[in-house]
Amino acid sequence: MKLLLGQTLSFVADPFVEEPTASARWERRGAVAVDEATGRIVEVGPAEDLRASYREAKVVDHGEALILPGFIDAHVHYPQTGIIASWGKRLIDWLNSYTFPEEARFGDRAYADEIAGRFFDLALSHGTTTSVSYCTIHPESVDAYFTVAQKRGLRALGGKTCMDRNAPDDLRDSAQSAYDDSKALLEAWHGVDRLGYVVTPRFAPTSTPEQLEALGALWGEHPECLMQTHLSEQTEEIDWVMGLFPEAKDYTDIYDRFGLLGEGALMGHAIHLSARERARLKEVGASLIHCPTSNTFIGSGLFDMPGLKAEGQRIGLATDTGGGSSFSMLRTMAAAYDVGQLHGTALHPAQLLWLATCGSAEALRLGDRIGTLSAGYEADLVVLDMASTPGIAQRAARAEDIWEQVFPTIMMGDDRAVAATYVAGRKV
Ligand code: GUN
Ligand code: ZN
Repeated sequence: MKLLLGQTLSFVADPFVEEPTASARWERRGAVAVDEATGRIVEVGPAEDLRASYREAKVVDHGEALILPGFIDAHVHYPQTGIIASWGKRLIDWLNSYTFPEEARFGDRAYADEIAGRFFDLALSHGTTTSVSYCTIHPESVDAYFTVAQKRGLRALGGKTCMDRNAPDDLRDSAQSAYDDSKALLEAWHGVDRLGYVVTPRFAPTSTPEQLEALGALWGEHPECLMQTHLSEQTEEIDWVMGLFPEAKDYTDIYDRFGLLGEGALMGHAIHLSARERARLKEVGASLIHCPTSNTFIGSGLFDMPGLKAEGQRIGLATDTGGGSSFSMLRTMAAAYDVGQLHGTALHPAQLLWLATCGSAEALRLGDRIGTLSAGYEADLVVLDMASTPGIAQRAARAEDIWEQVFPTIMMGDDRAVAATYVAGRKV
């Protein structure tokens, strides 16, 4: 048993529904008791009480730092780690110029291993304890991702990216091989330790109807898995895809027709949606994944967080590395705040932190295991130093409550603010 001391903060309700500050449990001097043998949280409460209850426990005192559930990145492309921050393109040119040539390298298992290791090093140093990643079309890239995650004891999700048209020769599979390879990978990895397989058609323009149908069938056979894809990210993309599927009512309807819309669907971006699409996404219980640094970096548009939350959509938050311009969920929260302002709404720090923890966990249907500091939850934690740079420190010093204290770190923080990251109760 180990007792981690510090300020503790976690959510008991959705701060977009409840009054934001009332949705959180905060302890000025709190403690999290973790059991390294099970990797779970045993109890959370005032430091004094837990010290009395667990006299034998080893104590790790994080002082003034803030202990939160580890960040959950609900949409990322680990193979794009090496091409993050590539200059000057919009989505389709960016894919062709930077992304596809890099992804073509992942048939080489040694290269995939190297980048998977680098990706998880970066994620953990930024306080991200769960990632949901696209891999490449190569099964080797999936094996590399899950092998590294498993060695580190991480809860991680991902899948083979499927494409059988509108991609270079060396990055195309077929409807049949996409089904067969995805199925074999799913059977090899889903539910092993803390790993989860995600059925992954890249997006409708790079799949034939036959491939979408095959992957819809696979998902139908394995409803215990999530499904991830991209939806309505950029206007040029929407024009292109509607030309490829002229019979569809709209972009959302393309996935719907092939059994690729439902509970457990993670729809990346979801920016340019009609009222019909929004109603349908809500009706089926799909999750919309907000990727704010990517949406501004590639010039995609402004996700309507206030409107979509108000209508009760399930929403997660993500970096979308390497279309996203940061590995940091703090930078991602800051970008979500900026985009909220452009929609006329100032997202509360509680809402931003909820999106990066509990909200993303619920979007992944893992809200009963991760994303919350509570007994029985997996002990994946991030500890934030809320005075990590002189600029942040001088602003936080004036704070009158925890929200004002943490907001400068949300807006200006990066990996320097991450004092520690714990995976299943162990410091990494
Ligand atoms: N749409 C299809 N593939 C991608 C990708 O790799 N990144 C982003 N941002 N959008 C996509
Ligand atoms: Zn993406």
